[in-house]
This record gives sequence, C-alpha cells and structure tokens, in this order.
Amino acid sequence: MDTIPQHVSIIMDGNGRWAKARGMERVKGHMEGVESVRACLEAAAEAGVKYLSVYAFSEENWNRPQEEVMFLMELMMKAMRKELSSFMENDIRFVVLGNRSRLSRGLCDTIDDMMERTAGNKRTTLILFLSYSGKWDLLQAMKKACAELTPEQFQSMELQDFDRYLVTAGIPDPDLLIRTSGELRLSNYMLWQCAYTEFYFTDVLWPDFRKPQFLEALEAYARRDRRYGKVK
Ligand code: IPE
Ligand code: IPE
Ligand code: MG
Repeated sequence: MDTIPQHVSIIMDGNGRWAKARGMERVKGHMEGVESVRACLEAAAEAGVKYLSVYAFSEENWNRPQEEVMFLMELMMKAMRKELSSFMENDIRFVVLGNRSRLSRGLCDTIDDMMERTAGNKRTTLILFLSYSGKWDLLQAMKKACAELTPEQFQSMELQDFDRYLVTAGIPDPDLLIRTSGELRLSNYMLWQCAYTEFYFTDVLWPDFRKPQFLEALEAYARRDRRYGKVK
C-alpha cells in the first residue's frame, strides 16, 4: 500500500495539439480534456490516492488570445457546476487554488460554493490550480508571513514553518507529478512543493490520458526508489 502515492499532480498539456491533429478548433481539445480529469479522478479515488491536483490554468495562460481565455473560464465554471452531484455521491472534496484577482465574481462565487458544499467529503480531494504560478505562490507566502510575524519571528522561521503560508497549506507535497504531451518542463508550477517529487513524463496528449494511462503512471511510481539524498 505504501507504493500508492498520497498526492498525484498533473500538468494537463496537449489539448490544442490533440484538436489540431483532428482538424478541430483548440477549444474542442479543452472540452475533451474535461473527460480526462473525470477519468483520472475516478481512477485515483479507486486506487486510494487521497489528493489529485491538476494544473488547469497558469498565470502565463492569461497571455493567450482573449477568446480562448474566455472559453476556458466558461468551460471550467460549467464543468464545476456539472460535477457537484458526482462529487457529493463519490465523497470528493473539491478545492480551487490560485490568484483570484483576475477571476470574475461569478466564477469566484461558484468556487466558494463548491468548496463549502464539498468541504466535509473525505474519500479524495481534487485540487484545481487556476490562475496559479509557483513564483506567485512563493511571493504571496512571503508577504503573508511578513504581515503576520514580528521581525524576530520572521528571522527565526524554519523551513517547515514556511509551508503554512503557501496556498497549499495543509496539503501534502506531491509524491508524483505527471506531465502529458511530451513537454519536459515545470512551467512555473508548484516550485517549492515539488522539491522531492517524482516526475513522470509521457508523450500522450491530455485528452487521450485516461484510466489505463493513469494506472501506468502509478505503476511506474511504484518502481521508483525514493532516497531523499540518503544511502540505501
Ligand atoms: C493544456 O493544453 C491546457 C491549458 C494549458 C489550459 P494546451 O492548450 O496547452 O495545448 P497545447 O500545448 O497547445 O497542445
Ligand atoms: C502549462 O501548460 C500550464 C497548464 C497545463 C495549465 P502550457 O501549455 O501553458 O505551458 P508551456 O507554454 O508549454 O510552458
Ligand atoms: Mg500546452
């Protein structure tokens, strides 16, 4: 059982290329990608993974064409609302993390409502990183710590004290990070939290990443030897 990761995180990439390969608009790839989130959540819950997090929209993604950004925001709002009953039935807690300053009021209200309603669910937590970046997270953590602590307390802060200022406070660091579509980079994702995470890269495009592919990643993780700098 200890080979099942507690927290699996996914950089969902390749929606645009998936659609392009089929002669479709990029947005069709995003729509199909929602099905992959559903499939991976089901697989994660069945396998006993307690936290599944997905990078849905980075701070850098605001620089995409406005129509695509608007489509993605609408899609996420609709998909969230649609999933509520399934989250309640399957005991899934839903959490959204990121920089809310550019999100619409309607989206923020939907997020708050979903988080409140699912707060007591215990089986698996699904975390959606929305308008998130790792550097932003570190900066907001430092600002929060500075505002809360006296200069003496700030100076005596230990490494483990810092976690509680990140937006991921209370959530264990990812054990396994999956990135689809053959890109080999972190794209400003959880920079602090991934310090000792196992990485899994696959050429499969996100809309094609379903249960069998998720289980394959879990199997690869089970074969890893996590040494944390020690000699085994
Ligand atoms: C990932 O797919 C979804 C988001 C980043 C929102 P992309 O839209 O990045 O697809 P590609 O990388 O262009 O194929
Ligand atoms: C990373 O994908 C961000 C998300 C999956 C939300 P991108 O497609 O935006 O990243 P780059 O541009 O390849 O680094
Ligand atoms: Mg991409």
